[in-house]
Amino acid sequence: MGDPSIGGPVKHITLTPEDHNEIRRLEWCHHIQLGDILTQGEWDKSHQDIIASCIPNDLRGKTVLDIGFNDGYYSFLAEERGAKNITGLEIHYRDTAKLAHRLKQSRVEFYEQDMFEFRSDEGYDVVLYLGVYYHVVNILESFQQVYALTAPGGEAYIEGSLLFGRWNRIMKLPPWMRLAKEPKAPPNLNFWIPTLTALKKMIGFVGFEDVEVLSFIGSRVVVRGRKR
Ligand SMILES: C[S@@+](CC[C@H](N)C(=O)[O-])C[C@H]1O[C@@H](n2cnc3c(N)ncnc32)[C@H](O)[C@@H]1O
Repeated sequence: MGDPSIGGPVKHITLTPEDHNEIRRLEWCHHIQLGDILTQGEWDKSHQDIIASCIPNDLRGKTVLDIGFNDGYYSFLAEERGAKNITGLEIHYRDTAKLAHRLKQSRVEFYEQDMFEFRSDEGYDVVLYLGVYYHVVNILESFQQVYALTAPGGEAYIEGSLLFGRWNRIMKLPPWMRLAKEPKAPPNLNFWIPTLTALKKMIGFVGFEDVEVLSFIGSRVVVRGRKR
């Protein structure tokens, strides 16, 4: 829940019985409060909460880009934290995100679009690139795109899995080490998991400065980079 003094009055959502049924029918990844229901996301809620704690509480006046928004939790969070304009990109715009958007009467602009095909002249003050880099074949090019979509003076929040231990000198994910329980059909193939050193070097290589680890979450990490 956002701070009402930042995001404005919390919108009260009254769900109809049809809304309840629709929420229960869908398979959620994120935990999103919709009226009196917290969606039962498949993904770990404590991870979601830690990532949320790494994103600034006060986004008033900021433009935000959420790459790979999935069910939309982080876009809605940015809205609750007062962002003036929020854009989400997703190669698969799920019914969950559409329903949450409608019920929340959200002003987030969601687009079903590949991050590599999206262009922005001014860039965004805050770019969220959460849980996506390992799904992208051209991981380094994806960081270049994140940098290109970040406004001068802006910052990017990058989250994902890391390789540790005796695997710490390789980058390519061995087939048996896939993140997904089973190899999935596109769009959610997994390709690369970097070591922390490789991840920070790539983020720095594309131009970000002050590259800083904000939190470890098990074998995952949240990193922030700034664009001068
Ligand atoms: C593991 S989910 C992470 C979702 C959310 N950002 C989070 O952190 O909870 C990765 C999402 O990125 C999307 N995705 C993968 N490649 C993409 C691309 N090239 N452009 C936009 N979205 C992409 C997938 O469809 C998927 O919903």
